[in-house]
Amino acid sequence: MKIVFDLITTEFVIWVIAAIVLAIWTAYYLRKPLSFHDKHVFVTGGSGGIGKAIATEVIKEGGRVSLFARGQYGLEDAKNEIVLKTNCNPNSIQIFPGDVNDSLGTLTKIIDDSEKNHGPIFMLVNTAGYAVAGRFEDLSVDNFKAMMSVNFMGTVSVSKVVVPRMKNRGEGVVVLFGSQAGLTGIFGYTAYAATKFALRGFAEALSMEVKPYNISVTLACPPDTDTPGLIMENKTKPKETCLISDSSGVLPAQDVAKQTLEDAKMKRFLSTNGFEGKILTTVCCGMAPITSYFELAIQKGMKSKDLDKESRKYNLTKVSWKWNDNTICHSKMKV
Ligand SMILES: *[C@@H]1O[C@H](CO)[C@@H](O)[C@H](O)[C@H]1NC(C)=O
Ligand SMILES: *[C@@H]1O[C@H](CO)[C@@H](O)[C@H](O)[C@H]1NC(C)=O
Ligand SMILES: *[C@@H]1O[C@H](CO)[C@@H](O)[C@H](O)[C@H]1NC(C)=O
Ligand SMILES: *[C@@H]1O[C@H](CO)[C@@H](O)[C@H](O)[C@H]1NC(C)=O
Repeated sequence: MKIVFDLITTEFVIWVIAAIVLAIWTAYYLRKPLSFHDKHVFVTGGSGGIGKAIATEVIKEGGRVSLFARGQYGLEDAKNEIVLKTNCNPNSIQIFPGDVNDSLGTLTKIIDDSEKNHGPIFMLVNTAGYAVAGRFEDLSVDNFKAMMSVNFMGTVSVSKVVVPRMKNRGEGVVVLFGSQAGLTGIFGYTAYAATKFALRGFAEALSMEVKPYNISVTLACPPDTDTPGLIMENKTKPKETCLISDSSGVLPAQDVAKQTLEDAKMKRFLSTNGFEGKILTTVCCGMAPITSYFELAIQKGMKSKDLDKESRKYNLTKVSWKWNDNTICHSKMKV
């Protein structure tokens, strides 16, 4: 609770009020959310976790989806599950077994196939990725290479095929999956956080390049999410990493999916979950594109407070409490 009181200063309150006024103003006059109705959405990592949850939400809105993942059986199960849950026309879901790590030629063929029946891809959602946690000395160089190749290069490869098509049509949405570990380093995630930081750099630069073509980029930065991936990842987590994860909790995949789609619809650059996510993105915003006056004002309000005037450095310990505070971790460990 202390953190909440810490943040409230007169200046902060003024900026929050300004933010609310501006947010209402933009909501009324400038923004019309995108719709996925009758649109084709291509989801990598679509057979489970967040990918499957996003596909389900898109189908509920009357969109068409293509699910892309490694296992044929997992894809079939996911398709059946979505059909049962939403009562949709089974033809609105296509499945494509494959690996984001495949060659560009193979990916191009798959994407051509997906567009044959479902029409041009309106939104690309890159959720394929995984995490292996461990202290730096316990992770192999191969762990780094493999994670980089799936989490980062996989997203780059699929986007490489899809983005030029969107540019030609003058519309589109690209959703990339970063992580809270892509905003701040976290104990045990030397490899994983590096892949997610890479994605963030990619997303920021890409969003600037494609904006004139009416294409928006949304970088989702969820905390731990209840997915099959987390079960795998939990097996490799050092105790310290568990303690840190426990402080931010585990979200259902459906919550993350809904939030991500809501932000993508509003063309927001960063998509986060909950209060902690908001604070984290605000203090770690860097030069990330500001997509609403609300974000701008909140960032201004918080910075005026946390900017240490002498050292010109943000006092991150104030706002990221447990994240960077290894003493908390270690003292808990001794108990
Ligand atoms: C990705 O593909 C390359 C080349 O085909 C291969 O060497 C590498 O092992 C693959 N990585 C993973 C994680 O599958
Ligand atoms: C931009 O894309 C949206 C859909 O994403 C479309 O409704 C709108 O007409 C496009 N605007 C222009 C100027 O092409
Ligand atoms: C994974 O670990 C977190 C704590 O780090 C725990 O809250 C969560 O329930 C675990 N999830 C699974 C699926 O094992
Ligand atoms: C940053 O904030 C923490 C917690 O409020 C405080 O203990 C620390 O002294 C602050 N550091 C600086 C440089 O102001």
